[in-house]
Amino acid sequence: MPCCRSSCGTEHSSLVQVYLGSNLDRPSVITTHMGLLQTYYTVGGFISAVLLVVVGIDQAYQRFSHKWTNEPPLLPYRIPIIGHALRFTADCLGLFRAAHEYFPGSQAYSLFSFGKRVYVFTHYKDVSIVFRKSKALPFLPLIESLSGLAWDISPDGMRRLSEVDDTGDSIFRNAHVFYRDSLKVGPDLDVLTISFLHYLEKEFDQFEAQKITDYVSLNKWSKTMLGTASTSAMMGPALLRDNPDLLPSVWLVEQGFVLFVNRIPRIFAKKSYRARDHVLSAFTKYFSDEKNKEGSAPMMWEREAELRAKGISTKDIAAYSYAAYAVLLNNANPTACWLLRRIFSRTDLLPRLREEVAPAFASGNSITTLEQVQHLLTSCPLLRAFYDETLRLHSSSVSNRVVVEETTVGGYTLKVGHNVICPSYVQHRLPEYFGNDTDKFEPERFIKPVLEKGTPADPKMVRAFGGGVSLCPGRFFASNEVLSYAASALWRFDMTFKGEMVRIVPRKRE
Ligand code: HEM
Repeated sequence: MPCCRSSCGTEHSSLVQVYLGSNLDRPSVITTHMGLLQTYYTVGGFISAVLLVVVGIDQAYQRFSHKWTNEPPLLPYRIPIIGHALRFTADCLGLFRAAHEYFPGSQAYSLFSFGKRVYVFTHYKDVSIVFRKSKALPFLPLIESLSGLAWDISPDGMRRLSEVDDTGDSIFRNAHVFYRDSLKVGPDLDVLTISFLHYLEKEFDQFEAQKITDYVSLNKWSKTMLGTASTSAMMGPALLRDNPDLLPSVWLVEQGFVLFVNRIPRIFAKKSYRARDHVLSAFTKYFSDEKNKEGSAPMMWEREAELRAKGISTKDIAAYSYAAYAVLLNNANPTACWLLRRIFSRTDLLPRLREEVAPAFASGNSITTLEQVQHLLTSCPLLRAFYDETLRLHSSSVSNRVVVEETTVGGYTLKVGHNVICPSYVQHRLPEYFGNDTDKFEPERFIKPVLEKGTPADPKMVRAFGGGVSLCPGRFFASNEVLSYAASALWRFDMTFKGEMVRIVPRKRE
């Protein structure tokens, strides 16, 4: 025992002494610890000093840089270097709201993200100038830099898409003109609209035949009805016939967009990447067989021929075409869903709305002809006002540009390499154009005078479709499809809401 006590005692005491720094037999250990501590203090002090300097410079930069450079002033942020990047990714609408409170009215300002400024313009006149200055502030470089990451286009595909030919054109460069011409008012749009109406009627008939009386998610229901009809009209019946489970993956890819373009590794976003693999593989199979062309909108396969002529692989053709298809779906869906919710929530206005659309349903339950669509576009002011008000209040669209030549907008200097955005959120809430209570859903503001000068709000001030060189070329089809969809639902169904859920039953008519 003594031996043990002695040995254990000795061991213990020496260990304790070392840890307490009182082992007189080991002066070198104490010295080393003191030295380390000193080093820590020195390094710690150095880091704190550097941090203080960084924070100081950053604070001065935040407060005064616009005075030195004449750029739009910065919205204050807390974390140097990162700036507003995290909040912008997680909650960009919340950020715009906060900025709107900090800079009242439509004052231009700058956001900051990893050393880059994002100039934000919200005044109608400034936004028009941004749209007009398409040479100094183009849209194209953004598309070119994001497409590869978003849709997994190979480097070879990207090179071919950007390759400029003898006429100075490339696939990326002529995209806007291509889609603008394909979707302009005229015979192609008519064919697309008629095809959409046919599929929509089928979807509504099938839903009615199922006699579902349970509450369902309005969002899911609406996305499925509209998504199925517009996918079939654009791509023909083959895509959904061969991939009946495609649409849920399309919604996941939409949510994953921000992850893809920010290069978030697959391991942190498995569901989104798997969904993207699924849709791209479905599109690759679709574009591998010319027979799938049948019943599709001519523009999808005309573009395929142009891409093929550039030597682009089927996989990259699929990825590029998926982007065009996603644009078709992803903006119209939320608009249509919000429109239905707003229509069926205003029970006071339902009889007036139904009275307006009634002539379009003189010979049946469905909209199937262009004349009926025309009635909705031109003879239903309240329905149109609901549509404009939905676009005003619920569109979160943001026009993006990049500064490639130093220029001025609204008296501010914009420096090369930084970005410009024009979020519709603030533009759509300016009292001088939309009267008071701009956060309230009030379709009548587009019908009865709401402004001091006594005129109704102007739908042209609703900028949900962007503007300038990238003004949405799908806006005519969007009006045709969303208004036909909403009018048909209004005519055929009654909806009762319980939170996010809705009970949709066929409407009883005398
Ligand atoms: C309510 C529905 C829609 C809304 C709110 C909407 C909104 C927008 C916005 C804000 C832009 C960017 C404009 C800019 O940056 O200035 C855009 C671009 C585009 N939209 Fe739409 N859109 C809708 C429906 C559609 C539909 C149905 C299609 C196709 C049939 C479509 C095709 C396109 C295309 C191809 C572009 C890219 C234009 C370019 O590359 O220059 N959109 N859309």
